[in-house]
Amino acid sequence: MDIAGKVFIVTGGASGLGEGTARMLVANGAKVVIADMQADKGEAIVSELTKELGEGVAAFVKCDVSQEADGQAVVAKAVSMGKLMGLVNCAGIAPAEKNRGQKRRAQPGRVQQNHHRQPDRQLQHDSPGGRRHVQERGRSHR
Ligand SMILES: NC(=O)c1ccc[n+]([C@@H]2O[C@H](COP(=O)([O-])OP(=O)(O)OC[C@H]3O[C@@H](n4cnc5c(N)ncnc54)[C@H](O)[C@@H]3O)[C@@H](O)[C@H]2O)c1
Repeated sequence: MDIAGKVFIVTGGASGLGEGTARMLVANGAKVVIADMQADKGEAIVSELTKELGEGVAAFVKCDVSQEADGQAVVAKAVSMGKLMGLVNCAGIAPAEKNRGQKRRAQPGRVQQNHHRQPDRQLQHDSPGGRRHVQERGRSHR
């Protein structure tokens, strides 16, 4: 698939798998919208990618994937950047083994919420046209 110039949304793109995915997409010529709750990290990544590769390759939208209005704002931003080609859902809470030793807020309610399919469906429904790549992660937590 030729992804050059195409737009992808990456939820959870401010860290871990999502960050890696966003960087990989941009490195291969795509544009990304990083949709994450962590504005400081997400904006720092966008700023770095912009310095490296130029204006317009990446954008950050503060987003809680469980909130419909946030999802709509993310899709609106993506559509404003060009042809929306896909969505990669990496938002979630990583396993305890990975978090050990890291400073991280405990959000037990979020763990369940993030691993429901609802946010994925929400963003799918909101996405206009184009191919969508939706990955649901962390099912083993349920
Ligand atoms: N890292 C792995 O090897 C691995 C393997 C299998 C599954 N997973 C699962 O994949 C998901 C991501 O793992 P990771 O290692 O990248 O974790 P991570 O903590 O590095 O990144 C997760 C990102 O999701 C964001 N996020 C959390 N809740 C959100 C919400 N409601 N809305 C928007 N953004 C939200 C966080 O702010 C964070 O930036 C987790 O659910 C994890 O359990 C990870």
